[in-house]
Amino acid sequence: MTQPTANSNATSLETIFNQSTSSLNSFAPRLLDWFAENGRHDLPWQQHQTDKPNPYIVWLSEVMLQQTQVTTVLPYFARFMTSFPTVQDLAAAEWDTVAEHWAGLGYYARARNLHKGAKQLVAVIDETGDFPQTLAGWETVSGVGPSTAGAIMAMGLHRYGVICDGNVKRVLTRWAAIDGDITKSATTKDLWALAERLTPIENSGLFAQAMMDMGATLCTRSKPACLLCPLKDDCLAHAEGRETDYPVKAKKQPKPSKFSNALLMEDIDGNILWLQRPDNGIWGGLWSLPLQFVEKIDGKASGQTTAKKPDASDNKKLEVRSSEKVYEAEFTTAEQIIHEWLTENQLVAASTSSTLLDDDPIKHSLTHFHWYLTPQKLTINAKQMTKLNEKLAAAEIAFKWLSEQKAQDSLGLPRAMIKIIER
Ligand code: ADE
Repeated sequence: MTQPTANSNATSLETIFNQSTSSLNSFAPRLLDWFAENGRHDLPWQQHQTDKPNPYIVWLSEVMLQQTQVTTVLPYFARFMTSFPTVQDLAAAEWDTVAEHWAGLGYYARARNLHKGAKQLVAVIDETGDFPQTLAGWETVSGVGPSTAGAIMAMGLHRYGVICDGNVKRVLTRWAAIDGDITKSATTKDLWALAERLTPIENSGLFAQAMMDMGATLCTRSKPACLLCPLKDDCLAHAEGRETDYPVKAKKQPKPSKFSNALLMEDIDGNILWLQRPDNGIWGGLWSLPLQFVEKIDGKASGQTTAKKPDASDNKKLEVRSSEKVYEAEFTTAEQIIHEWLTENQLVAASTSSTLLDDDPIKHSLTHFHWYLTPQKLTINAKQMTKLNEKLAAAEIAFKWLSEQKAQDSLGLPRAMIKIIER
């Protein structure tokens, strides 16, 4: 069997991607010309334009930019760089300090991975004297997938690196009219192959930043600015006026809705009880009010746009009508202790709203479900507080009694908690 030559490989790629060799070859120069004139060159993490790139800055910013827009990331990035100017500073920081810096940015697994990743990187630096220098080396760092690793190689180390994130996939599926479902691995494989074919050996960092800018500013999801696009002459989706038909993505199942009470347990000084969430699971390591699961509604079955609210006339809000298994799954250990203690002491929370009809939960959407949180107030006397503290301490639960303001100023609170205390 003859080995495929560079030329026959190019031919097979053309067949896969419906684009001519000249289109494939001119893609990068056109994009880079556009980027030089119209791209963003003032982002604080842009290391492709420095003489001595800093992989820490690129790693940190890329993790922050996963699923999050540049404008949201900017102030968080600035605070991180002030508090943790080096990876050693980040690795040595207490988790609570990192969580507090991340609070509000969402997708908290990223913050946990970042802290873990910093420790892994420091171990590599201590052993080898430098950051990882290979794609495989970066891919072993917590929270770093193939595209983030490619971005770090290209922009953080000025080596060769290829990116293929959501923005890139949108640009490429349109340009080459790739109509496979992008959630399927076969399509992902084709898109990576195309991204690799298009990425220039020289300047892959500039190219990566240009592709990101293109996806974020011109080739946007719902209103692409095709007239300004350097790729419009051979963009196959544009030729058919079908830009927004790409990328093809299987329809997601509607998310289920979960209803919980958020307990504002107030002591005689007006402080309320805060619990640190377990590391694994939602808001891991952040601080939250004690939550009481009430019920979960299947997104499919309900078929409604607004989730059903728990019955406002139901005065047994604290009763858990679920099986033991659901109880175990839906309550953290601390919440189980609190729930059982409340039941034993026949303490019933009152809705914070003034009328029964105004029993409006706060809606917070997470990746896998919508969470409806109904704030409920409870006053705890000194004796009760002592008892509860003993129970929580015996189970080694991290808890604090703090005013809403102090909690907001000093703890890492997820955005949903801020919504509750600011309402
Ligand atoms: N999204 C992901 N990485 C980015 C970057 N470096 N600049 C702008 N947007 C991005």
